[in-house]
Amino acid sequence: MTLRIEIDNLAKHFGEIKAVDGVSFSVRKGEVLGFLGPNGAGKSTTMKMLTGFLTPTYGTARLCGFDVLQNPIEVKKNMGYLPEGAPAYAEMTPDSFLRFIADIRGLSGADKLRAVASAAERARIKQVMFQPIETLSKGYKRRVGLAQAILHNPPVLVLDEPTDGLDPNQKHEVRNLINEMAEDKAIIISTHILEEVHAICTRALVIANGKIKVDGTPTELEAMSRYYNAVSVKVVGVESEKVMALLNGLDKVSETELLPLDAGCRAYPVSGQAMVAELSQAIRSQGWEIATLHVEQGHLDEVFRNVTTDQAMQGAA
Ligand SMILES: Nc1ncnc2c1ncn2[C@@H]1O[C@H](COP(=O)(O)OP(=O)(O)OP(=O)(O)O)[C@@H](O)[C@H]1O
Ligand SMILES: [Mg+2]
Repeated sequence: MTLRIEIDNLAKHFGEIKAVDGVSFSVRKGEVLGFLGPNGAGKSTTMKMLTGFLTPTYGTARLCGFDVLQNPIEVKKNMGYLPEGAPAYAEMTPDSFLRFIADIRGLSGADKLRAVASAAERARIKQVMFQPIETLSKGYKRRVGLAQAILHNPPVLVLDEPTDGLDPNQKHEVRNLINEMAEDKAIIISTHILEEVHAICTRALVIANGKIKVDGTPTELEAMSRYYNAVSVKVVGVESEKVMALLNGLDKVSETELLPLDAGCRAYPVSGQAMVAELSQAIRSQGWEIATLHVEQGHLDEVFRNVTTDQAMQGAA
């Protein structure tokens, strides 16, 4: 599988601020990398260096084998970039803006018309093509930015918060579009929406204070949650305290807690291992009947908080 993006010890310092502080990772064709991190983590700055809009303080990045500093034109030819906030020329219409971008991309004649029509279709902006961009809603503005990024069908897409400001239906459509394009491209998206990681990303990278904290698949990230493989259970006609006492005696259970609203109890596993089979077996062997049983998946928001809060960062330093 081909490496399309290679980032090697990349850093950007603004005076005292180490916005990006020695970051390395790569993205292959077919991968959709979710770039996560709190506000000010360094996501946009990394993307700006990768796309040649900011010069690194040190380190470098290659896109389709071209170095951002040595071959800036080749880099720009091979990527589509949706910058933070999706800037566009407010007084232009999407039609004239996309034609203008097509000219810059060196497209002309039938190729240009085809590219504009196809990008407009895929970004679902056909109905607003002749309305000034400044009069468009936030969501449509973002889609115009997206159409601009995919216009020349580039092998690499760098999308800075592509679904920010979109309503749930539009979010769904943009995620579908990214999924459709994923197979033959390498895509980086930054996002604050953790559910997006599962919906579109093959891999996620969490960055905080300019440094990478976690790099793994969505499932690997979830496995870092204390809720991963935890089991919530309610037994018919038996007090939850009694159920908890039984479960606490099992080897695979590390601790238990009472759930509010008479919902039973939750057992947490030792080292995240699966334990639902042993647990239900133990309950049945008492002659008890299970009313509800639910295996937890792991909470990404909890993992995100744990790896990006001050305490976690002090621990990592
Ligand atoms: N031109 C600049 N001059 C000085 N500081 C800057 C500049 N650009 C970015 N920064 C700082 O660099 C840090 C990283 O900013 P960046 O925009 O990359 O964060 P981000 O992860 O994209 O955050 P958000 O989720 O809010 O978009 C912040 O502390 C920001 O204030
Ligand atoms: Mg940003």
